[in-house]
Amino acid sequence: MNQEQWTAVDRYIGETVVPSDPALDAAIEASAKAELPAIAVTPNQGKLLQILARVVNAQSVLEIGTLGGYSTIWLARALPESGRLISLELNPKHAEVARGSIERAGLSKKVEIRLGRALDTLPKLAREASPPFDLIFIDADKASIPEYFTWSLKLSRPGSVIIVDNVVRKGAVLDADSSDEDVRGVRRLNDMLATDKRVTATTIQTVGSKGYDGFTLALVNSLT
Ligand code: SAH
Ligand code: DHB
Ligand code: MG
Repeated sequence: MNQEQWTAVDRYIGETVVPSDPALDAAIEASAKAELPAIAVTPNQGKLLQILARVVNAQSVLEIGTLGGYSTIWLARALPESGRLISLELNPKHAEVARGSIERAGLSKKVEIRLGRALDTLPKLAREASPPFDLIFIDADKASIPEYFTWSLKLSRPGSVIIVDNVVRKGAVLDADSSDEDVRGVRRLNDMLATDKRVTATTIQTVGSKGYDGFTLALVNSLT
């Protein structure tokens, strides 16, 4: 089994279970045209996010790491008319491309992109007396994953779902002595999860057109 096969199967899934549509295709095209990195979730991963948002009947979603708004669109489409999604993005160019694609998808009313370092915008969010988020997708820089997770708990309620992308990293996560800041970030999260009773968490390894990686899914139990 190899990358060629994983990509072919993802393509096949895209022709059957997870058909695309014009707004999602346009978001990928706009990102490519603006030379954003091609690291958005795959269509089948995006649809998983959307299903999870619907399973928890999400009214409010937080995304950390917008890029071109591809995962944003999948998630925002799960929301009811009154639903809201806030997405945090550091790079103004990424945010601009995302805003265009979100507009084209007809989701501008539901989606707000906040520009800045997530570690600066998260404390501000926590100070706003807004309701907790029902679903949080952590997908920005990997070195800060543990901090993002800690803030996510502060912004959650029992029953909230937190998803962390890119936590296997071709298996590099196994290396306890890794000097890679991304790997160290993921390993710090795992050390937290090993003892944190506030969440019930699992990690699923994945293969596909983006290679070998994985995601962590955490259900918030209680916050005490
Ligand atoms: N969720 C997107 C992909 C996000 S890629 C999708 O699947 O479609 C990661 C994004 O996080 C990039 O756009 C990058 O600019 C952003 N990012 C990196 N460091 C960040 C930080 N400190 N704060 C906020 N966003 C950050
Ligand atoms: C990278 C980031 C991502 O969010 C992703 O899904 C894949 C790769 C990266 O920074 O390389
Ligand atoms: Mg990712």
